[in-house]
Amino acid sequence: MAKVGIFFGTDTGNTRKIAKQIATQLGDAADKPVNISKASVDDLLAYDVLIVGSPTYGDGELPGLSAGHDNESWEEFLPKMIGADFSGKTVALFGLGDQEGYPDNFVDALGFIYDAFDEAGATIVGMTSSAGYTFNKSRALQGDEFVGLALDEDNQKDLSADRLSDWLETISPAWK
Ligand SMILES: Cc1cc2nc3c(=O)[nH]c(=O)nc-3n(C[C@H](O)[C@H](O)[C@H](O)COP(=O)(O)O)c2cc1C
Repeated sequence: MAKVGIFFGTDTGNTRKIAKQIATQLGDAADKPVNISKASVDDLLAYDVLIVGSPTYGDGELPGLSAGHDNESWEEFLPKMIGADFSGKTVALFGLGDQEGYPDNFVDALGFIYDAFDEAGATIVGMTSSAGYTFNKSRALQGDEFVGLALDEDNQKDLSADRLSDWLETISPAWK
């Protein structure tokens, strides 16, 4: 069976840590997580199932050079996806953010990444309820649901493990 590809952006390492936890939980089903700064669009297209993650920086921005980071990240990657064909690919998204510090832009990057994969024709799975989070606005919301898994390592770290394993359970039909 084809493996699941895991790609992440990060500045301070939280998203890498979650990506590694996902890889551990998937075991043989997943390849080692790859930083999006080192990936090409073809690297992603090599997989039929992808799990991709990103923190949000600035005031609701993607990680990357504009946010003052040393390395390129999703900011530089998403434009490369324009015109790419992800039809037939199943993609699940996770985003890290800080709902207390950035209540008007909570996990906005998840929304930008959703738009890029949606535009490229991917089948996106793994929407989650926004119940249990306190914020004003998020680009990652569709109705009452986030377009992926939202994790807040700044304020709700203790909830992340359960949120993550519940989410992986719901999306596991994609690779099982
Ligand atoms: C300068 C700065 C700006 C941030 N902006 C946002 C934001 O707009 N929205 C949000 O939800 N979180 C924001 N965050 C919180 C980060 O997304 C969060 O701390 C995340 O866990 C960092 O992930 P990383 O360690 O993978 O880089 C910001 C954090 C910093 C330091």
